[in-house]
Amino acid sequence: MTIYLNGAFMPIEAARVSVLDRGFIFGDGVYEVIPVYSRRAFRMAEHLKRLQHSLDGIKLPNPHNEREWTGILNEIIKRNEPEDQYLYLHITRGVAKRDHAFPNPPVPPTVFVLSNPLTTPPPELLASGIACVTVQDNRWLRCDIKSIALLPNVLLRQAAVEAGCAEAILIRDDAFLTEGAASNIFVVKNGTLLAPPKDNLMLPGITYDVILELAAANNIPHKVRRVTKTEVFDADELLLTSSTKEVLAITTLDGKPVGNGKPGAMFAKLHPLYQTFKREVMRK
Ligand code: PDD
Repeated sequence: MTIYLNGAFMPIEAARVSVLDRGFIFGDGVYEVIPVYSRRAFRMAEHLKRLQHSLDGIKLPNPHNEREWTGILNEIIKRNEPEDQYLYLHITRGVAKRDHAFPNPPVPPTVFVLSNPLTTPPPELLASGIACVTVQDNRWLRCDIKSIALLPNVLLRQAAVEAGCAEAILIRDDAFLTEGAASNIFVVKNGTLLAPPKDNLMLPGITYDVILELAAANNIPHKVRRVTKTEVFDADELLLTSSTKEVLAITTLDGKPVGNGKPGAMFAKLHPLYQTFKREVMRK
């Protein structure tokens, strides 16, 4: 497995980062996850745009322009075996004496890129759907930043696992839906797809955008607006999206069936549309 670290490509075993790295000490950094199908990065430009948004959010200059990023990512794709991969990009504020304030003068950021094999959900999981639990969204007010400080998300996902579930659905202020611990969530009611708005309380998902574009292009009724906790519990269907899970049906919520407890009509429409879209983009 070949990784990229601070200007060099190397075997993962050879990679070293200082214990004083601010990513290690403070979680002071941001990341991206980009799926690669048939050796081509999916929506690279959109992922790099979101990376810029995250870097701006933590006031860290982007170490590379789009052309440089494209070069690094394509080289990592080339140097790793699997046809389908997911790229993990990780940028921290670099190595400095431990002090909460930014290093002054600034130090070089740490830039790390890893490739992992991408395994999309198997047919059994697409057919059964997944079980989720609702939990209180107790994270900060800048969830639009893809921060490497993921302790809240780690604890929320672990709560789901301990309840025998695949994902936690996050409810803010005991009132409305934000997203999943590592995914976006859609609600379906009476044939309409409902999506929470992209604001500071959720990560603007790249897959979320694709799903809304597909809905618009295929005359599927959809609305972007606050979705209440009650609407989550009264949903006909619930859907989960992320770069690694693509789109999945949520068929059990807090131990009770969602709708009839099986993946529904909206999932049956959107999943094949997503697969077709993916293949078409890769052919271009
Ligand atoms: N997570 N919301 C959160 C909190 C996430 O961590 C993710 C993705 C998403 C979905 O975004 P996208 O469709 O762009 O993948 C929403 C990635 C997969 C991860 O942390 O591994």
